[in-house]
Amino acid sequence: MANSTNSGSTIDTGATRGSWGTRVGFILAATGSAIGLGNIWKFPYITGVYGGGAFVLVYLVCVVIVGLPLMVAELMIGRRSKKNPVGAFRALHAPNTPWQATGWLGVLSGFVILSFYSVVAGWAMAYIFKSIAGFSGTAEQIQAEYTALVAHPTASIIWHTVFMVLCIGIVIGGVRYGIERWSKILMPTLFLILVGLMGYGLLYTDGGAESLNFLFKPNFHKLSAEAALSALGHAFFTLSLGMGAMLTYGSYMRRDESITRDAIAVSALDTIIALIAGIAIYSLVFSFNMDPAAGPGLIFQTLPVLFAETGPWVSVPFFVLLTFAALTSGISLLEVVVAYFIDERRWSRTKATLILGGSIWAFGLLSAIAAITIPFRGKDQGFFDVFDFISTNYMLPVGGLLTCLFAAWVMKRADKIAEFGSKGIIFQGLIFFLRFVTPLAVLIVLLHGLELLPFMDYSK
Ligand code: TRP
Repeated sequence: MANSTNSGSTIDTGATRGSWGTRVGFILAATGSAIGLGNIWKFPYITGVYGGGAFVLVYLVCVVIVGLPLMVAELMIGRRSKKNPVGAFRALHAPNTPWQATGWLGVLSGFVILSFYSVVAGWAMAYIFKSIAGFSGTAEQIQAEYTALVAHPTASIIWHTVFMVLCIGIVIGGVRYGIERWSKILMPTLFLILVGLMGYGLLYTDGGAESLNFLFKPNFHKLSAEAALSALGHAFFTLSLGMGAMLTYGSYMRRDESITRDAIAVSALDTIIALIAGIAIYSLVFSFNMDPAAGPGLIFQTLPVLFAETGPWVSVPFFVLLTFAALTSGISLLEVVVAYFIDERRWSRTKATLILGGSIWAFGLLSAIAAITIPFRGKDQGFFDVFDFISTNYMLPVGGLLTCLFAAWVMKRADKIAEFGSKGIIFQGLIFFLRFVTPLAVLIVLLHGLELLPFMDYSK
C-alpha cells in the first residue's frame, strides 16, 4: 500500500490516501459511524412515541429495502473512485459533471450535522459527571437539571469544545492510526457495556418481560402513516446514509473484500445494537412504571430519575456508552469534510483537520447557545432544532436520492460489477431495488419532510 510507511499525519495527501488495515478494522469503523446517538437516544424514544412493536417491524423492513441497497451503493461508489464524495462523482462520470453537486451537498451536510451533533454529545459527557456525583432530589428537580444544562451557554460550550477536540484528535491520526485504531478500542467497549446493561435490565429489574413485549410484539392498530415515515427516515439516519460517510469509508476499503457482506454486517450490527439499547432502557422505564412515550427527553430526563434509584453503577456506564457511540459517529462526519480538503485541495491531513474541525466548532456555537433563535417554520427556534430539522428532513434524503439514482442509472455497469464482484441474481436484485424501490421510498421521506404528501394531514 502506498501510504503504509507514514502515520497518516503530515504526508497523507491526496496522492497517498489512507486505507484500513484489516477487514475487522473497517467493519468496526463503519459500525462506529452507524451506531450513534441515533441508536441509543433516538431509536428508543421514537419507538416509545410510536407505540413499540409494529414500529420496530416497519423499521426493520426499511433497513432492508432502503438502507442496505443504499449502503452497498455508497460503498461501491467510494471504493471504485477511491475519492471523497465530490471527487467520487466526478471520477465516475465526467470532470465537470453536475453530479458532483451531490458530493458538495454531502460535505456540507457533514459540516452542519457535526456542528449540532457535537452539542448533544457534549451533554452526554456532562451527564457522565453528573452520574458520578449522583442524581438526587424530586423527579422534577432531576428533570430540571437537563433544562438548565441546555439553557446554560457556558456549560454547553465547554462540553461541545471537549467533544470537538476529541474528534479532531482522532481524525488527525489518519484512517488507520486514528479512526481505525480508536474504533477498535471504543466499539468493543461499547458492546460490552450495552450487553451488561441489557443483562441488568432483564435479570435485575422487573421490567424485562414487559420491555421485550413492548419492542417485539407488534400492535398494528397503533401504527400510523406518520410512524411508518419516521421509521423510514430513521433507517437512513442511523445507517449514516445520504451524505457520503459510507462512501468515504468505502474509499479506504480493500479490493478483496465483499461489499455486500460488509454492508449486511454493518446494518445488522447497527440494528442489533439499537434493539439491545431499547431493551436495556425500557426494562428500566417499565420497572419504575414510567411513560415510554416521553419523547426526546427520555434519556436525559426520564432515565436520570430512575438512575437516582439504581445508583452510579448503572448510570455512569450508560453515559460513557452514549459518549463512545457519539464519538465514533462524530469522527465519521468530520472525516467526510476533511477527506474533501485532502483530496481536492491537496491540504495535509493535519491542516485540513485543524481548520475544518475548528470551523465546525465555531459554527456549532450557534447550536450550543440556546438563547440564539431565529424564526423558522412559524416560530422562534434555536439553531440546534433548525439544523437538525433541515439536515434530517431535507439534506440527507436529497443526498440519498441523488446517490441512489447515480448508482442505479449513471454509474457504468462494468464499474458496478467490478465492485460488486458478480452479476448474478443478487446483483440484478440490487440494481432493481436501486432503480425503483429505494428511490421511491426516499422520495416519500423527502416529500413528507416538505409536508407535501397528498395523503397526510399537515394542518396540525
Ligand atoms: N448514524 C449516526 C447515528 O445513528 C449519525 C451519523 C454519523 C450520521 N454519520 C452520519 C447520520 C452520516 C447521517 C449521515 O447517530
